[in-house]
This record gives sequence, C-alpha cells and structure tokens, in this order.
Amino acid sequence: MSNIIDGISASLELKNKLKIEIEKKDLTPHLAVIQVGDNKASNIYIKNKKRACESVGISFTHIKLPDTISEDFVIKEIKRLNNDISINGILVQLPLPIGFDEGKIINEINPLKDVDGLTFSNVGNLALENDCLVSCTPLGVMELLRLYKVDLEGKDVCIVGRSNLVGKPLIQLLLQKDATVSVCHSKSKNIKEYTKKADVLIVATGHPNLITKDMVKEGVVVIDVGINKENDSLCGDVSFNEVSKKASLITPVPGGVGPMTVACLLKNTVKAYKIQNGIK
Ligand code: GUN
Repeated sequence: MSNIIDGISASLELKNKLKIEIEKKDLTPHLAVIQVGDNKASNIYIKNKKRACESVGISFTHIKLPDTISEDFVIKEIKRLNNDISINGILVQLPLPIGFDEGKIINEINPLKDVDGLTFSNVGNLALENDCLVSCTPLGVMELLRLYKVDLEGKDVCIVGRSNLVGKPLIQLLLQKDATVSVCHSKSKNIKEYTKKADVLIVATGHPNLITKDMVKEGVVVIDVGINKENDSLCGDVSFNEVSKKASLITPVPGGVGPMTVACLLKNTVKAYKIQNGIK
C-alpha cells in the first residue's frame, strides 16, 4: 500500500460534507479576505480560497487595498466588516507589507469572525482547551492524522517551526491528544537530535529540503507544511524522494497539507456562521 497521504481526496471529502450541510440547512456563510499590496503568492492563495468558497456555496468578498494605505484605514475596514452581520468570517491575508503591525491589525477582528484563529481571544481559548476558532493549517494537519489513524497518545511528535499560524497552535492541538511535543526552530542547536527521535515529524519552516533522510527514523510519519518555489515547481521543507523511503506515511507537496488548509478555512467559516446565528 502507498505511504503517501492524499490531501486532495481528504479535502474533497471535507468540502463535499460542507456543501451538503450548507444546502440542507440553507446556510448563507460569507467570508471576507483583506489583502494589502500585491504579493504574488497571496494573489494565488486568495484565488484558490475564492474558488473553494464558491464550490461549496460560501460567498466570498475580496478587499484588495494598495500598500500605500494607512494602518488606520485597514483597521477601519476590519471594524466595518465586524459590524456587517452579513459577513461571518474575516481573514487578513499575510504577510502584510513591511511597516504594518500584523498583531495589532489582526487583533481588531471580532474573535467570532476570526477564521484564522489569530486573535488574543482565540489563541488564549485554544491554550485553555475552550471551543474556539483554530488556525486552518494546524486543523488540516490534525484532520489528516485522524483520517490516517495516526495514534498520538504518548508519541514523540517533533514540530520544526514556531510560527503563530502553524507551529504554536499545533503544540496545543497535539498536547490535547496526549502527545509528547518538542519544538525546534531557527535557533535550535541540533535539530537532528530531535527529528531523529520523532514518531511524527511536522515541518513548517519555509526552507526547501531542510529535512533529509539521515534526520528521521525508520517508520516515521512526516507532515510537510512547507510550500516553496524551486525553479518552476513547488517543493516542501522535506526532501520527499529520500525521506519517503523511510517514512510509514508522508504528505507530498503539492497535494498534501495545502488543500486541507483551504478546506479547513471553509469549515471555520461555516462554524463562525453557525456560532453567530445560534445554530448547533
Ligand atoms: N498566508 C499564507 N497562509 C495564510 C493563512 O493561512 N492565513 C493568512 N491570513 N495568511 C496566510
């Protein structure tokens, strides 16, 4: 049997479930994405999000602002969307141009509409194990591990990367599943010492081919969150060709975590809609 985790099939299944629920219950979820500037990668990500929303019946509004705009203007836009009851999810596409205070801007989002799970309230509630909106990529990672029946209880899980969007929320989600979690980052002295011990290795650094076969043990489960452009093709943070020979399960790039991130964004938008409208 193949050891490759199929994120495309998993995402189609999740999107199909959402589409059926939206139709059956007559839900009218609406996601707004704010983009500042014209980052090429962001343009592609937003196009994918729009297409995915429309495929399941979620309305999508793209607010694209020039990078000459002030921080105050962006905050005014967020406040306008907070007060608009027809908008259920608000996402500020990252990265923001240099000079914008990401933390300050994102924290203006109403936590009930914060589909990225990045506001103080959602980050705190996740740490306290209260129900809340959780960042989409970590949700997608956990869903893949669940679908492929990877038991996490007592397992050594190593996360490489400590971003607010991926590494940090994963710590909480993995602890909730009783994993033993270690976190490596750019200042870690000897990453290999940790990755080599891992039963499950999750890599989210943005460094192509950071993880090589000598850094993992036989039978490891590898989740590669990286999306890097090399020459004209995409690759992850893991040297797929060599590491896949030792892994019991591994996500490809593309076609692994990426599609699940988008599907979980849709899931969060529907969840936000239901919370705001008192629907179970
Ligand atoms: N840029 C790349 N991925 C993401 C994401 O998941 N959310 C936001 N807001 N920006 C991103």
